[in-house]
Amino acid sequence: MKKSIFYTTLFTLIALLFGCSTALKEGQTCVSDSNCDSGLHCETCVTNGNVRPRCTRIQPISPTSKVKGLPFNRYSWLTTHNSYARLGQKSATGSVILSPTNQQDSITSQLDDGIRGLMLDMYDFNNDIWLCHSYGGQCYNYTAFQPAINVLKEIQSFLDANPSEIVTIFIEDYVTSPKGLTKVFDAAGLRKYWFPVSQMPQNGRDWPTVDDMVQKNQRLLVFTSKASKEASEGIAYEWRYVVENQYGKGGMIAGSCPNRAESPPMNSTSRSLILVNFFRDLPDVTQACKDNSAPLLSMVNTCYAAAGKRWPNFIAVDFYKRSDGGGAPEATDVANGHLVCGCGNIANCKANVTFGVCDIPEAKVAPAARPAAVAHDSGFGYVNSKPLQLRWLLGTAFSALFLSL
Ligand SMILES: *[C@@H]1O[C@H](CO)[C@@H](O)[C@H](O)[C@H]1NC(C)=O
Ligand SMILES: *[C@@H]1O[C@H](CO)[C@@H](O)[C@H](O)[C@H]1NC(C)=O
Ligand SMILES: *[C@@H]1O[C@H](CO)[C@@H](O)[C@H](O)[C@H]1NC(C)=O
Repeated sequence: MKKSIFYTTLFTLIALLFGCSTALKEGQTCVSDSNCDSGLHCETCVTNGNVRPRCTRIQPISPTSKVKGLPFNRYSWLTTHNSYARLGQKSATGSVILSPTNQQDSITSQLDDGIRGLMLDMYDFNNDIWLCHSYGGQCYNYTAFQPAINVLKEIQSFLDANPSEIVTIFIEDYVTSPKGLTKVFDAAGLRKYWFPVSQMPQNGRDWPTVDDMVQKNQRLLVFTSKASKEASEGIAYEWRYVVENQYGKGGMIAGSCPNRAESPPMNSTSRSLILVNFFRDLPDVTQACKDNSAPLLSMVNTCYAAAGKRWPNFIAVDFYKRSDGGGAPEATDVANGHLVCGCGNIANCKANVTFGVCDIPEAKVAPAARPAAVAHDSGFGYVNSKPLQLRWLLGTAFSALFLSL
């Protein structure tokens, strides 16, 4: 190993450990989340060969912070698949959960990171409505995460605290108890934010503007996978309003964006909302950083073409925080750039100018050190900011230094 690279790396590490240098940009070497600028965290993507921990994006840019007043279908929202199925969570029944998990943080944390679409699987269970990642339409202790009301109350608190934000819920609906969903949404205090199904646009027309939705306080969109509930409970049947591509293996073939079976074809202009799924049949936290990077961006472009040159309004992924750089937040920024201002990225949209007038993109920040330097010689991986681990890390770095001398 070249000594100069080693010293540069060591210096960077020491600087980071002692907090001399914080607020790093995307792509820069870090040791903990706190080193990175807001909206970023510190991680590797080993499956992509990216073994140097670097600051990666976990938040999209709020598109309404750039341009307000467009119809709801002129924005794109980052969406979490099985938002409630959190890695390492124990069932509220006390049981160990045997189901696969799809996300790393709570619903509140997701909302704080700018997630605005939530996919929730709801079941009748224990005389209540629960969030379960189950099979056969039946929930079990070992597939039951928690009562739905807990998560719905988190959403209610977020809407209370953020009076200009709009949240969309996609329910994979296994509830058969009479008015089961109505009761749980009412109990969570979400009725006051409900966007009425009677005002949802038919035949592919534009949605109301976000300003209008905010002003009327109709800031919660709820879609169900059960057609009958639109008439019986006033809950919109998703595929009357949304087209959606295939998820899982059949949805991850580069260059192809077929609709999922329940959805009309992607190019059906009688639906004005477009949802792009991009996640595996079996969630995989190690592969997710790769999936959520270049392949996701490529699929967003493929689906744009398949949907009759329409950009997605929702981009749904597993482990939304994981990527090798910009990830799912960047894919959302790209869709928003095109939708909101006709630019390649929402970051380049200028306030109040003609559609298609864009800021010149900034060059990406160059990496602070060469990848191989840290990774191969100190056995350095992702660590969090606990002091003990830092001391261990520093010790390792110094041992490596002495060995190399
Ligand atoms: C499921 O969990 C409940 C506690 O919520 C417990 O009373 C019940 O015995 C459990 N059922 C099984 C089959 O383990
Ligand atoms: C929509 O796509 C299908 C192929 O999936 C094609 O046959 C059809 O002509 C397209 N319709 C429109 C209106 O472009
Ligand atoms: C854009 O226009 C809105 C009203 O149309 C105004 O409130 C806002 O200040 C303008 N922003 C800029 C950057 O000019």
